[in-house]
Amino acid sequence: VKGGFATFMEKEIHDQPQAVADTLLGRVDAEGQLMLDEMRIPESVMRSIDKIVVIACGTASYVGHVAKYAIEHWCRIPVEVELAHEFRYRDPVVSEKTLVVAVSQSGETMDTIMAIRHAREQGAKVLAIVNTHGSTIARESDAVLYTHAGPEVAVASTKAFLAQITACYLLGLYLAQLRGNKFPDEIRETLEQLRQMPDKVKRVVDAEEQVQTIAAEMKDERTVLFLGRHVGFPVALEGALKLKELAYIHAEGFAAGELKHGPIALIEPGQPVFVIVPSPRGRDALHAKVISNIQEIRARGARTLVIAEDGDTDVEPFADVVFRVPRTPTLLAPLVTVVPLQIFAAALATAKGLDVDQPRNLAKSVTVE
Ligand code: F6R
Repeated sequence: VKGGFATFMEKEIHDQPQAVADTLLGRVDAEGQLMLDEMRIPESVMRSIDKIVVIACGTASYVGHVAKYAIEHWCRIPVEVELAHEFRYRDPVVSEKTLVVAVSQSGETMDTIMAIRHAREQGAKVLAIVNTHGSTIARESDAVLYTHAGPEVAVASTKAFLAQITACYLLGLYLAQLRGNKFPDEIRETLEQLRQMPDKVKRVVDAEEQVQTIAAEMKDERTVLFLGRHVGFPVALEGALKLKELAYIHAEGFAAGELKHGPIALIEPGQPVFVIVPSPRGRDALHAKVISNIQEIRARGARTLVIAEDGDTDVEPFADVVFRVPRTPTLLAPLVTVVPLQIFAAALATAKGLDVDQPRNLAKSVTVE
């Protein structure tokens, strides 16, 4: 069942290229047009929505943050992201023109179910991005966009995360096509790039040994920090969550721009900090800003573990370790940059002799509020 791997989590990390490929399968035609037959919400409704709210918990909520950067850029529709349990117990502004996107691997997370019910009562349409066929969330939503990650057994989510991000890209590109994006070439080009992602994910998974060696050396660390900007920010949050839940090490993810607003006070000599570096070919000054963040923490003695694109030599003077990922458009990068962080957390937990598939105090699906 574990496909020759010691743990389900390792197997599921290796399943990721397939999970992304299967989630794309049959949803893009030969002309590069998206086909989402499962989209039971009428096109007229999808054209008229004026806001998207993503609701989810834990790892699935970070998917929402990645979706926000992508969908707002491609579609110019405002996207909010909220933890389902927070959404449910305030008085959120939703209407018939709001599309609520509920993201869940299990489809049974009670916090998310309650938020969906609340949203539908206010007249919002709910689209579920779910991995489990026939689950409660799939049944209670107006439409379902299934992730085809296959069953996920390890408590810590890996392949479902990549499949959920892929589904959100499909949703964003679908909306962009449907609503007439100003840059149809960019949308076509992005779809083409998306089709190349399974191979790129595989290249990062195949480079696992470098990450595992470093992780084993770090098993006595007490705190690990993660920094990212733009879509690298939710990746930093996910890297920290993985490390907490699997290795029981205190970990925190920050938006790199926040450093000087407080967290930089945490940096002392030897403090390990992962930094997710955006593509140097990407937009704006994003890359340069992150390089200067690495410089700032390195100058204060941080040990910098940098995730950077192949060929990005700018990081080298300031990195103690560089984990390479293939060249990828900025918005699609989370599919590759998160992989070393998953491998790191699993390897560190293994080095500590912990149960990687069943971390203490956690359940695979959280069916109580
Ligand atoms: C972390 C993890 C959890 C889940 C969260 C939502 O590795 O697995 O944070 O992402 O409990 O679960 P689903 O996606 O089943 O709604």
